[in-house]
Amino acid sequence: MVDLARRPLIVGSGIAGLYVALRCHELGLKPTLVTKARLEESNTRYAQGGIAAAIGSDDSIDLHFADTVRAGAGLVDRPAARLLAHDAPERIADLVRLGVPFDTVHGEIALGQEAAHSRRRILHAGGDATGLSIEETLKRRVLELGIEARERTVLRELRLSATRRVVATLSDPDGRGVDRLDARPVILATGGAGSLYRQSSNPSIATGEGVAIAFRAGALVADMEFIQFHPTAFYRRGAPRYLISEALRGEGASLVNADGERFLVSEHRDAELAPRDIVSRAIDREIQRSGHPCVYLDATATPRDRLFARFPSICHFLAAYDIDPSRDRIPVAPVAHYMIGGVRTDLDGRTTLPSVYACGEVASTGVHGANRLGSNSLIEGLVFGERVARTLAKPRAGKPLRTRRTLAIDWPVTPAGPQEEGTFEEVQQLLWERVGIIREAVGLESALREFGRIGASAERRTEAFPSHLSHAALTAYLIARAALARTESRGAHYRSDHPDPRPEWQLHLGLQRRTK
Ligand code: SIN
Repeated sequence: MVDLARRPLIVGSGIAGLYVALRCHELGLKPTLVTKARLEESNTRYAQGGIAAAIGSDDSIDLHFADTVRAGAGLVDRPAARLLAHDAPERIADLVRLGVPFDTVHGEIALGQEAAHSRRRILHAGGDATGLSIEETLKRRVLELGIEARERTVLRELRLSATRRVVATLSDPDGRGVDRLDARPVILATGGAGSLYRQSSNPSIATGEGVAIAFRAGALVADMEFIQFHPTAFYRRGAPRYLISEALRGEGASLVNADGERFLVSEHRDAELAPRDIVSRAIDREIQRSGHPCVYLDATATPRDRLFARFPSICHFLAAYDIDPSRDRIPVAPVAHYMIGGVRTDLDGRTTLPSVYACGEVASTGVHGANRLGSNSLIEGLVFGERVARTLAKPRAGKPLRTRRTLAIDWPVTPAGPQEEGTFEEVQQLLWERVGIIREAVGLESALREFGRIGASAERRTEAFPSHLSHAALTAYLIARAALARTESRGAHYRSDHPDPRPEWQLHLGLQRRTK
C-alpha cells in the first residue's frame, strides 16, 4: 500500500519549494511539487542583493544573530534567529554542492555589504543575478532527479476532513481539471503578497493566496501588518518598478533629492545604510515635501567597470532607459517588497493545521521580527525548508503553537451598503494608498470595509472553490486588520496616529478564523 505520509505535496517553486523538494527526495520521500506558473517563475528569481550567511573571516554566527535581532525592532523570535544564523553556513554549503555558482574573488566566495549588517556577509551570484542563479540551479536539479513537478497547477483550497486529514484542491489556472489530493502532508511554499500592492518589486504571481488558503482552513496567521517596503525601485512613469538593489548603497551609492542633497544624513547615523523602514519613510517624506515623484540614487563615485561587473542586470535594465549609473543618477521610489508575516510556524515549519507545513516567505517563523534584514529571506527559505524536510522524513509531534495576542476574524464579512462588484486592481490601489508606508486608523477602517465588499462580491461569484480575487481580498483584509489593531509604530509598520513603539505591543499578533 502507498504510504501517503511519505508523498508530500509541495506548493510553490521559489527557493523554499524547490529546496524542500530536493531534500525530501534525498531523504527518501516521493514529493510532488506544484506551481501555478512556470517552474522558474517566483520571487526568488528576482532577488538581486543575495543571500546572507556568516562565512567571512571577520564574521560570526553571534554577529549575524545580533544584527537580525537589532533590525527586527524588538519582535524577533530569538530561537528562530539563532537557528537561522547557525545553520546558514551549512545551507550555503548545500547550495555549493548543488552547483550554485557564487561569485568569487581570488578563489574565495565574494561577500557584499547591505544595510544594517555589521559585516560583509552577502553572497551573490552573477553579480546581481543571485536569485536567478539559485532558482535555475535548483530547478535543473529537480528535473534531473525526475521529481514530479506540475506546472500551471494552482492550489485552490485546503480543507480538513472530519478525521482531520487535509484535502488539497488543485486545478489549472482557468479553474478546470480539478484534482483533490487527500491525506498527504502539504508544504506551503507559495511565497509573498507584494503584488497585491499597486507599486511592488514582486512578479505578478506574488499575490499571497497561501495565507488566505491556510487562514480559511483555520490556520493561525501572524505579523500580517509587517509588509516591508523596499526603498529603491526604479521610478519612471509607465516603466516597471524594477528593483535597484540595496547592495548598490552597500557599495557606496548615496540617496539625494531633486536638489542633489543627501537627506538621509540627518535622519540616521547610518544614513543610506539605515534599516529599510527608516530609509523608505524618509524617501516617502521627501517625496511628499518636495512634490517631486522620486528621489535619486547616486552611484557615480563608483568606477564604471566595478558597477558593470557587480550589477550587470541593473546596468542592463537602466541602459534601456538611457541611464548609465556611472554617469547618471537613478530615479527611485519605495515599493512593497516582502511579506514579513504569514502562516505561523514553529521551528520545524509546522503550522497549527495537522500535516500542513509552511516555509519561505509565506511562513511567519518570527525570525524577521518587525523588520527583515536584507538578504535574510533566501537563507530563511533554506534553513527552515531543511527543517521541514527532516521533520517529514522522521515525523514527530510539535508543541501547540500560539501568539500572545490573537484576534478572531470573520470571513467573509457582511458589508453594509451597496454590494458592488470589486476588482483586483481596486485591492492593489487600496492597499497602496491606505495600508502603505504610512497608515492611520481612518484609512485602515475604510480599506477594511472595501476589502470586505470586494471579498463578498467575489465569494458570491464563486463556484467550486474560492476565486483568485476572493483570496486577494482576504489577504489584503488580514494585512489591514492587523495594521489597524497594532496601535503603535514598530519596524515596517508605521501609524501616523500612533507614531511610537509601545511596550504592550512587544508581541506577535495572530489572526485566526472565528469558529461558529
Ligand atoms: C536587494 O537586493 O536590495 C533586495 C535584497 C532583499 O530584499 O533581501
